Amino acid sequence: METNNILEFICNIPKAELHVHIEGTFEPELMFEIAARNHITLKYRDVEALREAYQFRNLQEFLDIYYIGSRALKTERDFYDLTTSYLTKAASQNILHTEIFFDPQTHHENGVAFPVVFTGIYDALQDAEKNLGIHGDVIMCFLRHLDEASAFATLQQALPFKDKIIGVGLDSSESGNPPHKFVRVFEAARQAGFVAVAHAGEEGPVDYIHDSLDLLKISRIDHGNNSKDDALLIQKIAQQRIPLTMCPLSNLKLQVVKDLRHHPLKTLLDNKVVATVNSDDPAYFGGYLNENYIAIQQALELWHDDIITLAKNSFEASFIDAAQKQTYIKRIDTFVSDFNAS
Ligand code: ADE
Ligand code: ZN
Repeated sequence: METNNILEFICNIPKAELHVHIEGTFEPELMFEIAARNHITLKYRDVEALREAYQFRNLQEFLDIYYIGSRALKTERDFYDLTTSYLTKAASQNILHTEIFFDPQTHHENGVAFPVVFTGIYDALQDAEKNLGIHGDVIMCFLRHLDEASAFATLQQALPFKDKIIGVGLDSSESGNPPHKFVRVFEAARQAGFVAVAHAGEEGPVDYIHDSLDLLKISRIDHGNNSKDDALLIQKIAQQRIPLTMCPLSNLKLQVVKDLRHHPLKTLLDNKVVATVNSDDPAYFGGYLNENYIAIQQALELWHDDIITLAKNSFEASFIDAAQKQTYIKRIDTFVSDFNAS
């Protein structure tokens, strides 16, 4: 395979996205449009001024702005438009399947009820499957800076929709909010039939990854960067095929890594970890999925075989059924042989 066609290869290979917060796909242009129709005045003069504010020294500085941005979202139509806008972009990047996070407690605090949020997102997914050929599932996250009682109340609100939500996750401020705060609510969620994932080891210590696995019994780790210095943990997640959903541009923008050349993705792949590439909050971090693949490819000098592994991992690590996974993985094989023949 030639080496100068890697960008085309990345953009066209079929792939899944497994770590994207719908609130983090809220582009400034759409934020101004939706704020105007809801008669909300944003703190920033215009789109450029808002984009200029997107400079973060850590996760908390980002979260502070991200939660303010979400206040513009009020109606079912707002969530429908937000989700449709992300799915349109995702389909254009050859994403065939996506698992979308949303933060019900953020919207509850903004006075927006669970069914309003969920119905807007879900209807957009149904329409995108028909109109764009992209499939999507939904994972609801608990905000870890809030308490257990609030997480339990959110779980209750989700139960009427439980057949349409695949899993629960854990996000927001990691440092000082350990997984053990949420043991009982994760237990209840798993009993109700949800799979479990959690952000762990993004800024927090490697113990939070161990505890997410052992106490919350998660099936997939979001970020997991701080697994990099724990050889036994790396061996365990590789052997048990517990995937990591990594987010290179997010890590760079939130200064989890100072330089993408120091990102642990390649070392983890070389150790047979089921690592994947994702966009996290693309409207805030300067790139959707393909831009994340390109940035990490350039920084770590990944080549076609690594990209194929990442794309196959993205389907293997997803929560679709085994037969569907095989169908998607075959599509990658067909894409690669056509690409080689062209
Ligand atoms: N919510 C949205 N993006 C997040 C991230 N990168 N870490 C934790 N919580 C988040
Ligand atoms: Zn995230």
